[in-house]
This record gives sequence, structure tokens and C-alpha cells, in this order.
Amino acid sequence: MRTTRRFLPSPVAQRSARAATLAVLCLAAAPVWAGDAPAERQVPDTLQQRLLACTACHGKDGRATNQGYFPRIAGKPAGYLYNQLLGFRDGRRHYAGMTSMVEHMSDDYLRRIADHFAALDLPYPGPQTTAAPAALLAAGERLVRQGDGARQLPACVKCHGAAMTGTLPATPGLLGLPRDYLVAQLGAWRSGSRHAAEPDCMARIAQALGPDDIAAVSTWLSAQPLPANPKAVTASAEPLPSPLPPSLRCGSVPP
Ligand code: HEC
Ligand code: HEC
Repeated sequence: MRTTRRFLPSPVAQRSARAATLAVLCLAAAPVWAGDAPAERQVPDTLQQRLLACTACHGKDGRATNQGYFPRIAGKPAGYLYNQLLGFRDGRRHYAGMTSMVEHMSDDYLRRIADHFAALDLPYPGPQTTAAPAALLAAGERLVRQGDGARQLPACVKCHGAAMTGTLPATPGLLGLPRDYLVAQLGAWRSGSRHAAEPDCMARIAQALGPDDIAAVSTWLSAQPLPANPKAVTASAEPLPSPLPPSLRCGSVPP
């Protein structure tokens, strides 16, 4: 496995990724017993078995925790997960530990992985705690719920759903993710190291956000609990204006 250090945003993430890489290596080494392994020790080559490697970083069943850096993958919309796996494989997203996992996998296999994690219906951890000033949290909530007309910045809930749990088929929820991960993703879009299919609506939105806005939305979002129903809603539950203004077009979401 290649080193993951280059793309990591913080020393904490570096430490946890190194520990996780070790865990993956140990998992990989485990079945190699000297000589004749008894039949009951042989590991079946199933999708389930192969996906155990993902749990080293993404937690049991991909449910992560809300601490640290690793994003949850369990229960996210299948279309979104599939787009991300393609993105790591094809160079639209960069994280060495992820790329090495998926670089030799076919579209079809990545689709099966996405469907597997999307179908998991598992409880979420509680929100992150924050000592951020009330004004920063209020600014974050305002951007998420109302956007900023003066900057032609649409409200995040327009696309991510009124309850911020995502919209099917390919827009993820924004709750249950670590603050550091949210900051890093918005920063990556802003700096051009994360891309989605063109027109890349999130790149435009991230570029309209300043560092203070990114801190505000990320801190507020990571401190919100999931609603009673944490599932992504159908897009029709959150109608977008029609015809869509250019700033609301997202190439990663099928029309
Ligand atoms: C070495 C640690 C590591 C391993 C092993 C790993 N991942 Fe990841 N994965 C990450 C990190 C870190 C990110 C976020 C990277 C970034 O900053 O863009 C990520 C991101 C993702 C995302 C995008 C999540 C989102 O919300 O956008 C998906 C999907 C994903 N991983 C799936 C998998 C699958 C499936 C496996 C197993 C085949 C796997 N990962 C194995 C570390 C890992
Ligand atoms: C016009 C629709 C739209 C609006 C408005 C929008 N988003 Fe997004 N967002 C998307 C889509 C589509 C994706 C998935 C892109 C991809 O496939 O990589 C996404 C992905 C994201 C992700 C990545 C999540 C992950 O798990 O990696 C974050 C973070 C995010 N958006 C934050 C925001 C914030 C914060 C706002 C408001 C300031 C916002 N978005 C407004 C459409 C939108």
C-alpha cells in the first residue's frame, strides 16, 4: 500500500490513516499461514469478505464515527457512492489510500460496492460538540438554510434536502460527517483538487465561499443531530426552480 500522507489534512488524520493502513496490511497478511491451511480457515472470496478492508478506515459496516476524518459511507445514496468510487479511480478525487483500493476495479464491481453500502440502514453517532461562538454557528446555519442572495449562493438545503439528509439518486446528506472532513472537501473543491462531473455545481458553490464561510457551515453542520428519519429523500420532495439557473446545474446528478 502506498503512503497516504501526502493528501492528509491534519496530523490527527495522518495518525489514524497510518494506523488504518497497518490494520489493512494485517488483514491482508492474516490468511497466509505457513503451508497447508485447514479448509475451515480458508476465506471465501465474496464481496462481503473483500469489503472488510474498507472497514479499517470507514469503521464497522462503513458507519465511521463522527470524530476524526474518515467519512461514513453506510446509507449514502448509491448514485453518489458510485460517482465517488469512479472519481477516486479516475483521478477526479485524490487520496492515495482510496485510489489504491479501487484502481483495478471495473465499473460493474464499483457499482456493486456502492449498492452494498447504500443499502445499509444503521444508526448514526451523535453530533460533534463545539465551543464555537454563537455568531459563527448562526452564520453557518443561515448559509445552509437560506444561502446568500447577494452572492447568488443557493441554500445548501435546496439540493441536499430540507432535512440535509441528501436527495436521491446522487446528492449526499451533510449530517453525520466530521467537521475536518467537511472543511477539507469544500477546500478541495475550491482549490480544484476535487471534481465532480461538469457542470460541477459544488465547485462553483465552494468558490463562492470564503474560509470563514467554510468554517461556519462545517462547524454548524457537524454539530447537528440526524433527524428521526436519516434517509435521503426523493428529489421531487424538494423541488428546484425550473428551468434551473446555471448555478444549480450539477453534472453528477442525472436530469
Ligand atoms: C486507508 C484508509 C481507507 C481505506 C482502506 C478505504 N478508504 Fe474510502 N476513504 C478514505 C478517506 C480518508 C476518504 C476521504 C478522502 C478525501 O479526503 O477525499 C475516503 C472516501 C471514500 C468515499 C467517499 C465518501 C464521501 O462521502 O464522499 C467512498 C465511497 C469510499 N471511501 C469507499 C471506500 C471503499 C468501498 C473502501 C474499500 C474497498 C474504502 N473506501 C477503503 C480512506 C479509506
Ligand atoms: C445545486 C445543488 C447543490 C447545492 C446548492 C449545494 N450542493 Fe453540495 N453537493 C451537490 C452535489 C450534486 C454533490 C455531489 C457531488 C459529487 O458527486 O461529488 C454535493 C456534495 C457536497 C459535499 C460532499 C459530501 C461528502 O460526503 O463528501 C459537501 C461537503 C457539500 N456538497 C456541501 C455543500 C454546502 C455546505 C452547500 C451550501 C453552502 C452545498 N453543498 C450546496 C449539490 C449541491
